[in-house]
Amino acid sequence: MTDSLYHFDTCPDRNGYGSLKWDKYKGRDIVPLWVADMDFTTAPEIIAALQDRLDHGIYGYTIPYEAPVKAVLDYLDRQHGYSAKAHWLNFLPGLVPAINLCCHAFVASDESVMTATPVYPPFLGAPDYANRELIKVPLCLTKGDTWTLDFDAMEAAVQPNTRLFILCSPHNPVGRVYSRDELSRLSEFCEKHDLILISDEIHCDLVFDQNARHTLTATLNECLAARTVTLMAPSKTYNLPGLACAYSIIEDSKLRQQFQTTIRGIITEVNCFGYAGCAAAYNHGEPWRQALLTYLRDNYKIISTFIQQELPEITFRPMQSTYLAWFDVTNLELDHPVKFFEDHGVGLSDGVPFDGIQHVRLNFGCPRSRLQEGLEKMAAALKTR
Ligand SMILES: Cc1ncc(COP(=O)(O)O)c(C=O)c1O
Repeated sequence: MTDSLYHFDTCPDRNGYGSLKWDKYKGRDIVPLWVADMDFTTAPEIIAALQDRLDHGIYGYTIPYEAPVKAVLDYLDRQHGYSAKAHWLNFLPGLVPAINLCCHAFVASDESVMTATPVYPPFLGAPDYANRELIKVPLCLTKGDTWTLDFDAMEAAVQPNTRLFILCSPHNPVGRVYSRDELSRLSEFCEKHDLILISDEIHCDLVFDQNARHTLTATLNECLAARTVTLMAPSKTYNLPGLACAYSIIEDSKLRQQFQTTIRGIITEVNCFGYAGCAAAYNHGEPWRQALLTYLRDNYKIISTFIQQELPEITFRPMQSTYLAWFDVTNLELDHPVKFFEDHGVGLSDGVPFDGIQHVRLNFGCPRSRLQEGLEKMAAALKTR
């Protein structure tokens, strides 16, 4: 049904387009299931909007104009119940530069940054690049085998000089959607220790679990909103990372000014196609997104069943969001899990840069046949041992 409309089962060949995901294994018989880039063609409405922008024929410097700004504000209100103001926004070419700049803007050289691991590697690299101390606190498992923030460990680890907590919500790579209760506890923690919260919510529209609901951190309470830098983009959801259009939302004028001062002369303008894609995604992309979530939900079920039946030595815990499955492969006793699977035709992300030794991450934002092929190759690989 979904495929007849959007063709998630049949994706164009990406050879010759400089695809980071595909070129890594160019000329090798390896199914690329690594970096967070889906193989799906984006929504037809976005393609039409980009075509329209292309037809204009002039691709000059572009400032945040009414259409994308209104699209973002309407989307935040409609989708997340957040009535943001235009002057709280800063458009940026990516979240990663924003995370790095936050470490410069808000943390002095003798102060520290805290985050919860395993996590998207730039969270770990950013404090290091800025020469700021990093405090890593591992996530913990609840009795129900769900990943959560370990508040006791965070209390024990926080220092008087800690200034920033970088949150990944939903959490890449474990796919957790934090509840309002967990976020409230985080809010209290930030308040108690006077921390600025960098809330990376790039995966917030990829919640495929119908029982989970994403809460935008800044909507929780006014005190938290005043100490939060929210980072968002339509790029993960609509498969537009190459358009390089993201944005920050900073309510507090002092924090916003600090951020804007730091990005001056360093961050370039978002390009005209990024704005056009962003506006079209938020204004017209919802039917495509709903179909995508259905497809991802089914891919997720296929992985869960396959792991249970064919690869029971791999620990795969329930997830609620993202198209990135986090596998604990400790029981396989492999010296180099990623190399082992590559040698058997499957390209996965290495857990080590996420601070997840003996873990690998599988991207299931791909056609079902490709996912099936990858899983079968993993199972065949393990039979060779
Ligand atoms: C949590 C998280 N933040 C940011 C990004 C990338 O952001 P950008 O491409 O806008 O720099 C990713 C990409 O996978 C991600 O998972």
